Amino acid sequence: MNKEMDELAFERRAIARGEYPRFRLMARIEHMLLLTSFTILCLTGLPQKFPFSPISQGLIALLGGIETVRMIHRWAAVVLILGSVYHLLTSSYRLFVRHERMRMLPDIKDAYDLRDTVTYNLGLQDTPPKMRKFNFGEKFEYWAVVWGTAVMIVTGFILWNPINATRIISGELIPVALLAHGWEAVLAAVSIVIWHLYNVLVKHRNKSMFTGMLDQHIMEEEHALELERLARGNPAYPVVPPDVLRRRQRVFFAVAAVVAVLSLALVIWLFTFESTAITTLPEATRDVFVPLATPLP
Ligand code: HEM
Repeated sequence: MNKEMDELAFERRAIARGEYPRFRLMARIEHMLLLTSFTILCLTGLPQKFPFSPISQGLIALLGGIETVRMIHRWAAVVLILGSVYHLLTSSYRLFVRHERMRMLPDIKDAYDLRDTVTYNLGLQDTPPKMRKFNFGEKFEYWAVVWGTAVMIVTGFILWNPINATRIISGELIPVALLAHGWEAVLAAVSIVIWHLYNVLVKHRNKSMFTGMLDQHIMEEEHALELERLARGNPAYPVVPPDVLRRRQRVFFAVAAVVAVLSLALVIWLFTFESTAITTLPEATRDVFVPLATPLP
């Protein structure tokens, strides 16, 4: 029996117990890694952006001083980057080997669902729209994380290796990278607290990222089409014959191994490249020579 049949059997057993499968174990582990690395990056990055706040100063002292804070920020960044590479590889596996639909790509139904959700919330229609496993709001959040992480990784590496970065980009762009990195961090932290935590913890008590299962009332309200699919017992994806699957896997694993080794080498190389932004230079003690302005004739 191949993986698709295993998944189908797993879904049927869960539904028989009155549970609705939402996230695989590996997706939950990936989310835990993202949650941990993102929290550490905020706790070690935001105090550097707002250094005069007493909260920042207390946090920096608690963590062992500014240089330790910088090192923790870099280690957490490495976890975030390797987690992102892993996500790219597993998404490519589902796309190229199992030929799954790209369920996170937005389409016209998401626009209709958004319109119908607004009219339902305004009391202009009686029932909410029937939505799929990932609805328009979840897709929006997903793509916000994707582009946000890309911006943080690119600007983060510029700040990490500022001298060498100027071999490729103009020096004027270093402070631009600092501004983009800092304010994108503020945007990300605020939207996680206001939007994400509200949606998963306040609006519903959604524990699916920890248990893997979603409650029936959330399925009915936000994923009615997925609920219908599970009730009918239809597979989520086309079943791939085992010999075809093995052939595709051989090619995929060879390419994935090369990508994984290259990414790891790139991260180690960038990590050890330059220590400019880690060391705190002592304050200048000599007077700086400032020439007197020449009086105009
Ligand atoms: C989403 C995750 C991240 C958040 C929330 C975050 C947050 C921040 C913030 C708020 C600052 C201070 C900016 C300022 O002073 O204006 C900062 C600095 C910095 N970040 Fe990040 N960051 C993240 C990811 C990364 C990544 C992926 C890298 C590396 C590739 C990185 C490397 C740096 C560096 C080198 C600095 C300069 C300060 C230092 O020496 O530690 N950050 N970060």
